[in-house]
Amino acid sequence: MKRRVFSGIQPSEVIHIGNYIGAVKRWVALQDDPAKDNIYCVVDLHALTVKQDPEVLRERTLELLALFLAVGLDPAKSTLFVQSHVSANAEGAWLLNCVTPESWLKKMTQYKDKSAKQAERGREGTVLTGLLDYPVLMAADILFYDTHEVPVGEDQKQHVELARNIAERFNYHYGETFIVPEPVIAKAGARIMGLDDPTVKMSKSMAHVQGHAIRLLDEPKQIERAIMRSKTDSGSEIRFSADPAKAGVNNLLTIYQVLTGKTRDEVEQDFASARGYGDLKKRVAEVVIAEAEPVRKRFAEIATDRGELERIMRIGADKARAISEPRLADVKRKMGLLLPM
Ligand code: TYM
Repeated sequence: MKRRVFSGIQPSEVIHIGNYIGAVKRWVALQDDPAKDNIYCVVDLHALTVKQDPEVLRERTLELLALFLAVGLDPAKSTLFVQSHVSANAEGAWLLNCVTPESWLKKMTQYKDKSAKQAERGREGTVLTGLLDYPVLMAADILFYDTHEVPVGEDQKQHVELARNIAERFNYHYGETFIVPEPVIAKAGARIMGLDDPTVKMSKSMAHVQGHAIRLLDEPKQIERAIMRSKTDSGSEIRFSADPAKAGVNNLLTIYQVLTGKTRDEVEQDFASARGYGDLKKRVAEVVIAEAEPVRKRFAEIATDRGELERIMRIGADKARAISEPRLADVKRKMGLLLPM
C-alpha cells in the first residue's frame, strides 16, 4: 500500500524561499515517488486565525493554487485542494477538540510567540480562540486523510507531534482509528533564516520588511538586491558553521546547497577560491534567480486562467472529500453521534 503524504501552506502572503525550500520544493519531488500518495492543501481556514482582508484572502487563495501549479505540482499526480472547500477538515477539528486537553495547546511554542506579539498591540491585537486551536485544525487535516508522512519545515514539527498525541489519545479512548503520522523534516533547509537578521526564522509575517525575505514571485533585481545586502559578519571564511556569529553565511550556503542539490563538501569546494562574501552572494543570487524566474513566468500565464483554476479546485475537493468523509463518519459513529440514515 502507498504511504499517504499530506502537507499544507497558508495563503497569508506570497510564499518565500523558506516555505519553498522547507516544504513546497520537496512536495514537487515527492510526486514522482511511486510509493507515495500525495495531498497538498491551501489552508485558508488557518489564515483566518489572524485578521484578514476578505478580498485579499480570496485573491491570495487563488494565487497560491496558481503558484502550486507554477512550481510543478501536478493535479494529475497529487490531490490539490482548498481547505474550506471540504467541510471534513473543520468538522474533524471540532471532534478532535473534544479529545484534546487545553493545556497541550497553551504549551505550543508558536502560540506562545504569536499571542505574546499580538498582545503587545493592545486592542488591535486581540488573541483569537482560533489561534489557540490552530494546531487541532492542522491535526484534523492530517488525521482525517489517513496520513503517514507530513513534510514540513522545522517550525511545524511540534504541531505534527501534537497531531500524533491526539491520534494516540483518540485511539486509546475509542479504539484503533487514526494512523499516527510522522513529521518529515529535511536535513538541510528546514529553517531558512531572515536575510536581514539571520538569528530569526524567515517568516511570512515579516515578508513585507525590506530585505527580510525573498518571495518566490520577486523580480530578479529585487532578489539580487536582497541577497547582496544580506547580513553576514566581518570575516571572510566561506564554510558551513553552527557559530551564531556566522549564521548569515551559513544561511546563504544552505540556500545554495538545497537549490543546487550538492553536498556540503561540494558547496565548500565551489567557494574555495572565492574572494569574499561578495562572490558568495553573487553566486547565491544567480542560483535563486535561476530557480525563481521560470516559476514567475509560469505563474503569470497560469494565474490569468481563472476557469482552469476553478476546475482544478473542484476536482481536488472531490478527491479530498472521497478520502476524508468515510473517516469522518467513522469517528462520528465511534464518538456516539447519531448518523443520519
Ligand atoms: P506555513 O504556511 O506557515 O508554512 C508552510 C511551510 O513552510 C515551512 N516554513 C519554513 N521552512 C523553512 N524555513 C523557513 N523559514 C520556513 N518558514 C515556513 C513550514 O514549516 C511549512 O511546512 N500550519 C501550517 C500549515 C498546515 C499544515 C497542515 C502543514 C495546515 N495544515 C497539515 C502540514 C500538514 C502553516 O501555517 O505553515
